[in-house]
Amino acid sequence: MSRITVLGGTGYAGSAIVAEAAARGHEITALSRSVPPEPVDGVHYVQGDVTDEATLASVIEGADVVVGALSPRGALADGFRDVYRSVARIADAAGARLYLVAGFSSLRPAPGAPRFVTDLSHAPAEYHNELSTVSALVADDLPATPETLDWVAVSPAGKFGAHAPGERRGEYRVGDDVALGGPTGGEISGPDYALGLVDLIESADHHRAHLNLAH
Ligand SMILES: NC(=O)c1ccc[n+]([C@@H]2O[C@H](COP(=O)([O-])OP(=O)(O)OC[C@H]3O[C@@H](n4cnc5c(N)ncnc54)[C@H](OP(=O)(O)O)[C@@H]3O)[C@@H](O)[C@H]2O)c1
Repeated sequence: MSRITVLGGTGYAGSAIVAEAAARGHEITALSRSVPPEPVDGVHYVQGDVTDEATLASVIEGADVVVGALSPRGALADGFRDVYRSVARIADAAGARLYLVAGFSSLRPAPGAPRFVTDLSHAPAEYHNELSTVSALVADDLPATPETLDWVAVSPAGKFGAHAPGERRGEYRVGDDVALGGPTGGEISGPDYALGLVDLIESADHHRAHLNLAH
């Protein structure tokens, strides 16, 4: 059993991860500004803002693992990378491993090829900030953290999210930073992304790595 703190544990990805990890007997703390209408039994929901360092510290200290499931939307559209700089610093000091819910655009179509984010012409303009912000976190910010921080960024397949929740198949594939779904993206349901992420947390055999999950 691990003590796992999920930042954004009530969002699309976060709530699936919370449900999966709690069902396996992990001790879960979920931080968000609002509490969910249907809380998962046994989960400790903390209402607070990730831009407040004291709140962040209070939920990270004592955790074995921190899962970052925030999105750079709304009030976090600008401060997202700063929040994760604080998360990385606090997690490193606390000796907690950090798992980031990343995005498809930070993956590559082939080994060593430019990341999808370098050409966003296929994506509607309203998503460009989100895609490039999350990609910068994966490509620039996490690799620049002290070597003592154990982080894993896990990109979903292209078809993933509240608009396309899908169903639990109980299966997934794990790849490195080359998209398993290829340039067309592939897909992964919320429950199967959570299954894969919690398996990665439990196996703990990737370190300072960028991975992807797809059906
Ligand atoms: N195919 C793809 O590549 C793909 C698709 C979808 C998502 N993603 C990525 O997956 C990640 C998670 O996305 P998502 O769609 O699951 O996000 P989401 O549903 O928008 O959830 C965000 C979570 O963060 C919480 N939150 C927001 N602002 C906060 C604050 N200031 N303080 C504390 N909590 C806060 C929200 O709860 P409150 O609002 O109550 O605070 C919620 O729990 C993002 O990085 C996103 O880019 C990738």
